[in-house]
Amino acid sequence: MDDRLNDNVWLRNETARRYKIFTEQTTMYQELSRKMLELADIQPGMRVLDLGCGTGVTTQAVLQALDGRGQVLAVDISDPMLQIARQQVWSEQVVFMQADAAELERLILEPVDRVVCNSVFWQFRHKAQVLPALHAVLADNGRLVFNVPEPYFIFKDIPRSAKVSILFKQLAAERYGVGQQDLRTMRVFLDNYQFELLSTHEFERIRPAEESYLFFQLPVATAWMEPPLDYPTRLALLEEAQQLAEPDQAVRQRWMYLVVAPKKQRPPEKRTSESR
Ligand SMILES: C[S@@+](CC[C@H](N)C(=O)[O-])C[C@H]1O[C@@H](n2cnc3c(N)ncnc32)[C@H](O)[C@@H]1O
Repeated sequence: MDDRLNDNVWLRNETARRYKIFTEQTTMYQELSRKMLELADIQPGMRVLDLGCGTGVTTQAVLQALDGRGQVLAVDISDPMLQIARQQVWSEQVVFMQADAAELERLILEPVDRVVCNSVFWQFRHKAQVLPALHAVLADNGRLVFNVPEPYFIFKDIPRSAKVSILFKQLAAERYGVGQQDLRTMRVFLDNYQFELLSTHEFERIRPAEESYLFFQLPVATAWMEPPLDYPTRLALLEEAQQLAEPDQAVRQRWMYLVVAPKKQRPPEKRTSESR
């Protein structure tokens, strides 16, 4: 079966089952959520959208920050992931919704104060539709916080190139958010969709060898291989690598967090009789 990295891989029961095990046996998503909450400045009473909530790791952290007042709207495209989230997070303050990120306007009729989007944004294949949807649901003084790991993100400004091969990719990143972003293309991309990049924050963590092994068991983690290898073959390769590898080979992981605000929509120009 073709399971290259796309939303469909998230829709599988096996992905959700392994993801739950991963979040129980490692601290990766908890650490990433903690950093996100540090930057999101969530206050009790706020309405918070947790976009791509998965099995609810970030949802739980948001709920704690709300301290009993406010609401979490937790949206994900995957029913199996949401089923686990509903078992993990029990609160009347949380509403789980199954939807694609581009459909938010249909679901969310009152503006939200914050959007947190942990370990998801770079995976959206349709960012040019997701950003307008986010703009529509965010309050004027709202904030969006999301993160992107290396190597999907280059942690510096790369000026526009004079070479067609490079400039082509830079334009794809600026206009559609496609491919690898650097700080400059991301800023331009966000600006094109009426968002202002307020601040960026690097986050580094150490991934222990055991976490790598568990991570690569997730069907999504190796689904990008091109040409594709089927999942049992990928698992067999992983077992072999696990046997051959030296023990305790931890790796460094770098993430970039971006805090973003919607630009105020300029009111339509007033027409006077003289300007007609
Ligand atoms: C790596 S998980 C992150 C889950 C969660 N934020 C956490 O911290 O554990 C990515 C999640 O994004 C969801 N997702 C992927 N594409 C989506 C889309 N187009 N719309 C909504 N959710 C999406 C997946 O179903 C998956 O649950």
